[in-house]
Amino acid sequence: MTRENGHVADRALSVADEHPGRILSLRGIGKKFGAVRALAGVDLDVHAGEVVAIVGDNGAGKSTLVKILAGVHPADAGSIRFFGQPASIDTPTDSLDLGIATVFQDLALCESLDVVSNLWLGRELTRGGALDEIEMEKRSWGLLRELHARITDVRVPVASLSGGQRQTVAIARSLIGDPHVVVLDEPTAALGVSQTAEVLNLIERLRDRGLGVILVSHNIADVLAVADRVVVLRLGRNNGDFRASETSSDVLIAAITGARDHSRRSPDDDE
Ligand SMILES: Nc1ncnc2c1ncn2[C@@H]1O[C@H](COP(=O)(O)OP(=O)(O)OP(=O)(O)O)[C@@H](O)[C@H]1O
Ligand SMILES: [Mg+2]
Repeated sequence: MTRENGHVADRALSVADEHPGRILSLRGIGKKFGAVRALAGVDLDVHAGEVVAIVGDNGAGKSTLVKILAGVHPADAGSIRFFGQPASIDTPTDSLDLGIATVFQDLALCESLDVVSNLWLGRELTRGGALDEIEMEKRSWGLLRELHARITDVRVPVASLSGGQRQTVAIARSLIGDPHVVVLDEPTAALGVSQTAEVLNLIERLRDRGLGVILVSHNIADVLAVADRVVVLRLGRNNGDFRASETSSDVLIAAITGARDHSRRSPDDDE
């Protein structure tokens, strides 16, 4: 990833050096789809044990940013640092190898398989050439207990679980690879009140494990309940970075709609 202004990369280096807890740093990220500029000059930092929410209106670029982190679409401008080291994320494997686990909105669970099989899908444990069902089930229970998950039977097909339980399974599955950062795209969008509370609780468990969590959400109440920091995207650009404890839904909505301008536009952004 070249483009642009050497000063962006320099800034990333100096900032990363000042923050040893920083896991991920994006600077000046840009992405175009043909003539559509989905992202321009986007900065994002994620620290260990921090929940960073990304909010923004439809088309603001949230999913594009998630896909860049997941290696679905490579960025076409800007730089990425992981634990202070330059990194490139060109493929989903690059993303996983760095330790970024993404839970997409559609969850991609296998409906007919049970919870254990879904958790270990593609990473099955074997013993003497056969699947080690006992060990996988034991570890599944360990993980679900640690997450305080409300799942009482790990041998039922995922199709029979509630929306909150399915989200839990998808998030638990993302932890099997022992990631540093978990990216959740709209994890509560389809959920009712108590299931939402269950998932927000789970997000707090992820933070307790020292993970960096990126939470993409439309729901300002959820974001204020669980996030440490809220990053607003508007029309593909940063429009504010707020401490959740020091902001309000009114302030966030003003930033999302553009009623208030918190952007830090530099002339280089418009090249
Ligand atoms: N694959 C693609 N091809 C062309 N344009 C795209 C593609 N993906 C996203 N875009 C465009 O990029 C912009 C940002 O879209 P994105 O999906 O990232 O927004 P979003 O913030 O996730 O919105 P929503 O809240 O509706 O999910 C939009 O203008 C969208 O039309
Ligand atoms: Mg989206």
